[in-house]
Amino acid sequence: MQHIKQNRTHWATDLTEANCDETVTVTGWVHKQRDLGQLIFIDLRDRSGLVQIIFDSKTEIAFNEAQKCRSEWVIQCKGTIRERDQKNPDMPTGSIELLCTDLIVLNKAKTPVFSIAEEDDVDELIQLKHRYLYLRKPQHFNRFKARHDITQAIRNYLNNQTFLEVETPILTKSTPEGARDFVVPFRGQSGEFFALPQSPQLFKQLLMCSGFERYYQIVRCFRDEDFRADRQPEFTQVDLEMSFIDELTIMSLTNDLLKSAFESVNVPFPQTIPKITYSDAMNRFGSDKPDIRFDLELVDTESLFDQSDFKVFRSIREQQGHIKLIRVPGGSTHLSRKKFDQLTELTKPLGVPGIAWIHFQESGEISSPIAKFLTEEELSTLKDISKVESGDTLIFVANNDLSIVNTALGVLRSTLIEQLQLKPNKEHALCWIVDFPLFEKNSDGEIQAMHHPFTSPNPDDRDLLKTNPENVRARAYDIVLNGYEIGGGSIRIHKSDIQEQIFSLLRLSDSEIKDKFGFLIEALQYGAPPHGGLALGLDRLVMLLTDSSSIREVIAFPKTTSMKCPLTNAPNTVSSDQMDELHLKST
Ligand code: AMO
Repeated sequence: MQHIKQNRTHWATDLTEANCDETVTVTGWVHKQRDLGQLIFIDLRDRSGLVQIIFDSKTEIAFNEAQKCRSEWVIQCKGTIRERDQKNPDMPTGSIELLCTDLIVLNKAKTPVFSIAEEDDVDELIQLKHRYLYLRKPQHFNRFKARHDITQAIRNYLNNQTFLEVETPILTKSTPEGARDFVVPFRGQSGEFFALPQSPQLFKQLLMCSGFERYYQIVRCFRDEDFRADRQPEFTQVDLEMSFIDELTIMSLTNDLLKSAFESVNVPFPQTIPKITYSDAMNRFGSDKPDIRFDLELVDTESLFDQSDFKVFRSIREQQGHIKLIRVPGGSTHLSRKKFDQLTELTKPLGVPGIAWIHFQESGEISSPIAKFLTEEELSTLKDISKVESGDTLIFVANNDLSIVNTALGVLRSTLIEQLQLKPNKEHALCWIVDFPLFEKNSDGEIQAMHHPFTSPNPDDRDLLKTNPENVRARAYDIVLNGYEIGGGSIRIHKSDIQEQIFSLLRLSDSEIKDKFGFLIEALQYGAPPHGGLALGLDRLVMLLTDSSSIREVIAFPKTTSMKCPLTNAPNTVSSDQMDELHLKST
């Protein structure tokens, strides 16, 4: 490959003692300037890192220019490399310095609104407004370098497996993935809108109908949904689809793909990736995206409280309800009564108005609002089944509905892992979640697709579709990294009659099916091959592999929590002419 010439002979951090006595040119920003009278030091920063430039008053012109330089000025320095008298072991180029003979100021800079050189906490609004400055900080550049390396590794892997990269439309029709659509008004017809794709789901299925067999795309998706640290309204998927395939092959391909991604940024790839059924995940961890770096599992007290003097628990058992617990390591010193009130606020919306707890103090004492109702035997069984250690706390959730118990304990588990900063057993843990239900109930008690309505039902459960759709398992799978869902997919429905049956179960009338998905039903009727695929959330993957605290850190120009871009001030109003042209009225 041809070397691209810039106004430099070397990147800052390429310079080593091997370059001593060479004349070199470096270009970049003034990171720091120190004027010691007869000598001036400038740490020059380019995207590779820092190198120290030294100006001696004997080289008068360069010295005088260096005296004027301020933070973030853009400069080009020519000079000779020499070994430093006082080496700096904390700096990759700390054993050398560049004695500058020629300095060109390429541009001056206003004093930045926050320091690029200092590791400071910049208010989010300010850093987003001046995002280009924030990204100058080397630690942020490194995240984007990692994102690039991960993306390249993924591309290389898929290209080597003869996947074809194909672009699909951005101006399209609603693609149901469970979020609200972003819509774009159509100038050509009043009342008509495009929708931005929530994912390329239907197009990739149509490409399978075209006989492409192996498709991928690193693609922007758009979802108007509530804010979370692992969500953005526009985000990137590594989207893939294959024909003549089963779930095991897709899962093993994804494992290999992820291995290349991990290795591209030198993150050790987990040796084992367990497959956990949805129902086991809920029972053991209270979540379908469990963080299995922590082996804290929910414990079922089963019949322990059937005859208990503690009426609350006994009456739950009399109604065939469930009492489960979670052990919180070190909880007895960290969990105050006030903390439990806060935790209860989290479980209330899930249908759990109160939680019970027992502290097993380091001193051996037991403190708890419920311990006085429990017998020695009950306490001793509790200790055995929970493997509680001194200093730990047991938290109980009791309810007639097992799924409520599991979900509430799952929320407590992940909240306490985070808030108490519990130490994981390993740095990264992946797991597959399989055997999802095909449907779940919405807030009105109606069934809806748990993933999307194109997911194939498990053939063993086909008969249940008519009799008991809620118990039908899907041929769907999710991949979870450290408690984050980093991808999901399924084997699709490739027969039009089954697809129509699923739409009907989802209460779509024949005319709605025709109107919304007629093109898909028709395509399936022209010899659609069996097919399936998956999409990885690239931003989430990069966030986790770079140990970043939010996906905003790995997106160059993200939106705020209220979906705004403080840099460009988007979204904003448009002129009344544009409104008229688009047949829109503001209220
Ligand atoms: P799904 O909806 O599970 O599947 O999305 C796939 C992955 O995309 C990531 N993701 C997000 N990342 C950031 N911000 C968001 N708002 C966001 N929403 C989703 C997650 C998720 O696992 N068409 C199917 C895939 C398929 O069936 O092949 C789909 O989009 O990491």
